[in-house]
Amino acid sequence: MPDFLFITCQIGAEAAVKREIARRWPGFRFAFSRPGFLTFKLPEQHGLADDFDLESVFARAYGFSIGKVAGGRPEELARGAWKLAAGQVVQRIHVWERDRAAPGEHGFEPSITPEAIAAHRALLASGPCPHTLAAHADDPLRPARRRQRVLDCILVEPDQWWIGYHRVGPRASRYPGGMMALELPAEAVSRAWLKMEEALRWSRLPIPHDARVAEIGSAPGGASQALLARGYTVTGIDPAEMAPAVLEHPRFTHIRKRSTQVRRREFRKIRWLTADMNVAPNYTLTAVEAIVTHPQINIRGLLLTLKLPQWKLAEQVPQYLERIRSWGYNEVRARQIQHNRREICVAALQVPFRRKRLVGMPKGES
Ligand SMILES: C[S@@+](CC[C@H](N)C(=O)[O-])C[C@H]1O[C@@H](n2cnc3c(N)ncnc32)[C@H](O)[C@@H]1O
Repeated sequence: MPDFLFITCQIGAEAAVKREIARRWPGFRFAFSRPGFLTFKLPEQHGLADDFDLESVFARAYGFSIGKVAGGRPEELARGAWKLAAGQVVQRIHVWERDRAAPGEHGFEPSITPEAIAAHRALLASGPCPHTLAAHADDPLRPARRRQRVLDCILVEPDQWWIGYHRVGPRASRYPGGMMALELPAEAVSRAWLKMEEALRWSRLPIPHDARVAEIGSAPGGASQALLARGYTVTGIDPAEMAPAVLEHPRFTHIRKRSTQVRRREFRKIRWLTADMNVAPNYTLTAVEAIVTHPQINIRGLLLTLKLPQWKLAEQVPQYLERIRSWGYNEVRARQIQHNRREICVAALQVPFRRKRLVGMPKGES
C-alpha cells in the first residue's frame, strides 16, 4: 500500500490545500512542499482506492507518490522513474511541471510545458512494457479514459521528477496535471473565454444546445463568446461596455445594468445562470440568491466564479457551498480550475429540476 500522496495546485493555494486536508482527512500528515506541490504521509492501512475522491477544491491533481528521481539527463531520470514504477501496470503517462508562478503573474498560464512534453517523450522511449500502454499514450496532451491506470510524473524541478500513479476517476483526473489543452482563439475578446470553456467542460452541466443563458459580469465578453459558440442564446448583464464583436452577435443581448437593477421578468425564460463579477464572494452570492430564489424565476443550473481577494476566504468555501445548496441545488461542486486566478469555479444543479408553481403567470410562460 503506498505511503504518500502528492498534490499539485496553483501557487499560493498550498495553505488552502493543507487546511482542506486537515479538515477532511485528519489522518494525513503533511510531509513536503514546494510552491504548487505538496506531499502527505498517509496513515497505515489507509485502504484508499487508486481512484479515491480527495474532495478538495484547491488540489488540481493528486495521486499516490512512489518517490523521486534526481540529477542527470531526462533519459537517465526516465530510467530511474521506471525502476520506481516496477510492477505497476501503466496504461497512460501524465507528465507536467509544478507551476512556476501564480496564474496571471507576468502572463503565466498553467499548462503542459515543452519541458514536460520532452520528459513524456523520454519516459515513453525507455518504458519497459509498451504493450500495457493504451492507444494514444504517446500523446502527452490527450486526456486518459475512465478507469485507466496512469503513471504520474511531476517535474518539481527540471532535474527532480516525482513519480506517482492514479486511476482515472470522474472528470479532471483524466487530464495531465488536471489541465486541459485549451488555446485562446484569436477572436476571443478576453481570457475569460478560457475560464468559461474549461468550466463548461469540467462541470458537464447538462445545458441543452438551444438553452438561454444569463451571464452576470459579462463585459468585455470572452465568456459570452464561449457560450455563443455552443449555440446558446446569451443575455449579458454588466454596466460596463461589451466588445463590439459580442454585441453584434445575433444571439446576444446586453442589459447594461448591475444585476440588482435588472427587472426580474428578464429571467423568466432563462434556466441557466453564470456569474463572474469582480466583487467579494458574499456579494456575488447575494446577487445570485436574489435571482434564483425569486418565486417567478426558475434557474436549473449555475456556473459561478467566486473571487478570493484574500486567501483566508478559502476557509469560507464550505459555507459558500452550503449557502448555494440552501437555494435548492442538490449537486454542488467546486474546483479551482486551471484558468482561475485567485478564485474558484462552482457548478450547481437541481436534480430533478422542479419548477416553482407560478401564480398569475400567463400559460406557456413558465
Ligand atoms: C472579470 S470581469 C468579467 C469578465 C467577463 N465575464 C468576460 O468574459 O470578459 C468582471 C465584470 O463584473 C462586472 N460587475 C461588477 N459588479 C457587477 C454587478 N453588480 N452586476 C453586473 N456586473 C458587475 C464588472 O463591470 C466587470 O465587467
